[in-house]
Amino acid sequence: MNLIKIFDTTLRDGEQSPGGSMNVEEKLQVARQLVRLGVDIIEAGFPIASPGDFEAVNRIAKEVKGVTIAALARARHADIERAAEAVKPAESGRIHTFLATSDIHLQYKLRLSRDQAYDAAIDAVKYARRFTDDVEFSAEDATRSDRDFLCRVTEAAISAGASTINIPDTVGYAIPQEFEELITYLFNKVPNIDKATISVHCHNDLGLAVANSLAAVLHGAGQVECTVNGIGERAGNASMEEIVMALKTRPKFFNADTRINTPEIYKTSRLVRKITGIVVQPNKAIVGANAFAHESGIHQDGFLKERSTYEIMEPASVGVPQSTLVLGKHSGRHAFKSRLVELGFNLTDEELNSAFDKFKHLCDQKKYVFDEDIETLVAEQVAKIPEVFSLLDLSVESGMNKTPTALVRLNVGDQTVELTQVGDGPVDAVYKAISAITGTKSTLAKFEVKSITGGTDALGEVIVALMEDGRSVRGNGSDTDIIVAAAKAYINALNKIAIRRRDMHQNIEGL
Ligand code: KIV
Ligand code: ZN
Repeated sequence: MNLIKIFDTTLRDGEQSPGGSMNVEEKLQVARQLVRLGVDIIEAGFPIASPGDFEAVNRIAKEVKGVTIAALARARHADIERAAEAVKPAESGRIHTFLATSDIHLQYKLRLSRDQAYDAAIDAVKYARRFTDDVEFSAEDATRSDRDFLCRVTEAAISAGASTINIPDTVGYAIPQEFEELITYLFNKVPNIDKATISVHCHNDLGLAVANSLAAVLHGAGQVECTVNGIGERAGNASMEEIVMALKTRPKFFNADTRINTPEIYKTSRLVRKITGIVVQPNKAIVGANAFAHESGIHQDGFLKERSTYEIMEPASVGVPQSTLVLGKHSGRHAFKSRLVELGFNLTDEELNSAFDKFKHLCDQKKYVFDEDIETLVAEQVAKIPEVFSLLDLSVESGMNKTPTALVRLNVGDQTVELTQVGDGPVDAVYKAISAITGTKSTLAKFEVKSITGGTDALGEVIVALMEDGRSVRGNGSDTDIIVAAAKAYINALNKIAIRRRDMHQNIEGL
């Protein structure tokens, strides 16, 4: 069996999804889960892009062990120095430098000749090698590059010291047969190709990112670059869970496997969904809500007679929980803690106490508490951010023939502020009150409501995205009362904006 390396770029290319940006704490949380998942390399960011990106890569390099941490850098010395500094504390650090090789990019974007690009690529790899032995070179837009030029650059980058050469399908243009021909061409034409791992990085513009990645694996690629839930620029990147489970489900066909601990897949998907606010379509392979649901009578009948008639993977193999009735009002702290451990949460005593209080509160509002409820409650707790604003009280009056009116009481720093506002609906009234109290200049770009489990007493989750100064910030909130969940989500996003502003202020003062 060939062991294929999983290079996860959720925190870099995934973060480039519209509206998918994450703060440093959120990136750390995802990085820790990626280690539990067993990825080989985490591409943690693009350090030269912003101080926040640098800090995220640097903190992940310091705090997340047992995995290689990669940082992206254009083929420029300043980028490479910044990337090297960011990954310096890592147990194992990689500099990932890239330069386009297609004529379209060279002519219109970089205004470089092929010879200039060739020299710049060699220079970048050599310069990166001054800082680490682990250097990856990507030939951006490789699939639209002249094949012989791509071979020349690949050979030179390997001679200059790159141990991984990445062949990206940057614009998701390739077709599987064509992509495998390209990979085969490189293996046949580049004399020193055996000195490097060949990696692929496919985008999903034609919905072929996973198919192209798998075609490359069949023809010698040893590393696949992918993201959780397939998030990424435009139509996204190749989906990690689909690639991994294709290899796992068809071992004889691929003769390849990964180190991924597949029962962690579902939890990772949920975490990324929660943190980025990018929803997973219900029919998404492996992690979509319907991926293991059998609806038609014929399918259900076959499935009940013999699972394998209609199911090629067991839900448990990717960690999809069976919605189990777990705990209720009379459950004690010990039972609650054991359930948390089974669900993969290891909380400190202080976190456990607070989660247990919330759980008891939920039991008063909701008859049955499911695993999903507990995950939502605890994930909120783990991702907790410092609060400039906190919700103390909320009451709403609305109905047919009534003007929706909301009274909101917030803690703002060490003051309590209360305001009543009317609106077009109850959420509008609440949001107007919160907006007036906090004085926010942000605008609401997205508002989404979801029920965590079934039933009218289900915990509801609201995800919002606010835009301020051209940047988007997400907020989540959950509660059995959907209006309260909406208020919590709005306040969560406003707290993130307040913290970002505080951090920027500190950075400016520190300059
Ligand atoms: O899509 C792409 O080409 C990239 C490179 C930076 C690897 O993301
Ligand atoms: Zn990409």
